[in-house]
Amino acid sequence: MKTFYIETFGCQMNVHDSEKVIGTLMAEGYSQVATPESADLVLYNTCSIRDKAEQKVFSRLQQFKKDHGAGKVFGVLGCVAQQEGHRVFEKAPHVGLVCGSASYNSLPQMLVQLESGARRVTGLSLETEDTFETPFARRDNPHRAYLTIIEGCDKACAYCVVPMTRGPERSRTSDSVIREAHSLAEAGYTEIQLLGQNVNSYRDPSPAGWDFAALLGAMGKVPGIRRVRFTTSHPRDFGKEIIDAMDENPVLCNHVHLPVQSGSTRVLDRMQRLYTRDEYMRRIEWMKRSPRNIAITTDIIVGFPGETDEDFEATMNLLDECGYDSVFSFKYSQRPNTPALRYEDHVPEPVKSARLTALQEKQRTIQIKQNAAAVGTVQEALVEGFNKATGQWIGRTSQNKTLNFIRPREGGESLIGRYLDVQVTRSGPNSLVGESVN
Ligand code: SAH
Ligand code: SF4
Ligand code: F3S
Repeated sequence: MKTFYIETFGCQMNVHDSEKVIGTLMAEGYSQVATPESADLVLYNTCSIRDKAEQKVFSRLQQFKKDHGAGKVFGVLGCVAQQEGHRVFEKAPHVGLVCGSASYNSLPQMLVQLESGARRVTGLSLETEDTFETPFARRDNPHRAYLTIIEGCDKACAYCVVPMTRGPERSRTSDSVIREAHSLAEAGYTEIQLLGQNVNSYRDPSPAGWDFAALLGAMGKVPGIRRVRFTTSHPRDFGKEIIDAMDENPVLCNHVHLPVQSGSTRVLDRMQRLYTRDEYMRRIEWMKRSPRNIAITTDIIVGFPGETDEDFEATMNLLDECGYDSVFSFKYSQRPNTPALRYEDHVPEPVKSARLTALQEKQRTIQIKQNAAAVGTVQEALVEGFNKATGQWIGRTSQNKTLNFIRPREGGESLIGRYLDVQVTRSGPNSLVGESVN
């Protein structure tokens, strides 16, 4: 039996790609093992979004250099593979396979080449209209399933490698998405998370021609599916009809991740984000006016070239205005082949670090306040696990918050996968605590 090991870095798209790669390999007769040492084929599904992420794969490969020649094959998949291409072989000569996400459909053929002794096999074309779909995806979580609706990205944000590492946008047909949702429901999944670098630019390529809001409407009607989430939304393409779809359909969760990147219109313009602060705020207003209690989360980059103290102040006061439920914040990292390379007015590293710390401290206070507002409410939680150390069940709310809770009349049976009503009794900056009421 041929064996493989896979380690995944990066975003949910990568996590789900790995689930599909695993299914594909298993269909080819490979079996998955838990350590690289015991595998014939060692795969790293990589991320290139920031320099640190890229370095990780090369340090992993360095670790196993000595195993080269012992019959092991090393493969680099994902965004670093696509970005570095043949240069991966120069940096790590023991690698045998370099394959970007737009070429995973050809993995079976590439495996045959490797098995018949080929030393260097690549899948690097981005000229594709295909999406990578397989009925064999090996989903990791038994209740929540990822479902890709659109691959690639047609935007050109000045700092970002994704358009180069994942290629042009390709949407799946609405029919195949809805069919997959039905089969996921039949397989026992109750939550679906729709994935795309920019889900709002979803355009059904079939004659039905659905946009994203139409797809959301249909997803909300799949029998057996109790929760539907989606990520990521680009503010420019985020229309009011998405909020309307949420208002109409309780299956669509109370959460929108809407990356802003900066609170300064001047910086947004240099980032080529295609919206102003005011346009972004209009979308926040739509959500705040909705009868649904929508949690809003975002991504922020600090220290983009040319970001002044004033620009950064604008981001800080945007945090107050939006009252985010969670923020993913990063220091700008210079990336190969990106438009921002032309900027020379770099922000010094210590300034970036100070801004990141200040932003995270501010957001922590905002989150304490946001979460405290939930105390006293009853929320539905999907139970995801049990924490032996605290004796608490771990649940997730519709707003995507962690809600740890106890069950006063503990019956001893597993609650994992069930939906329970939980009264929130306490809160912290990153989670809620409560007691189940049913
Ligand atoms: N498609 C999504 C996000 C893609 S990457 C979107 O458009 O929002 C996830 C986050 O990584 C981005 O939102 C951004 O905040 C951050 N990021 C991307 N490139 C970066 C870079 N060069 N340096 C620092 N952070 C970056
Ligand atoms: Fe990158 Fe911008 Fe595309 Fe998001 S929308 S993946 S940040 S280029
Ligand atoms: Fe990273 Fe590629 Fe995702 S660069 S964030 S794995 S799209």
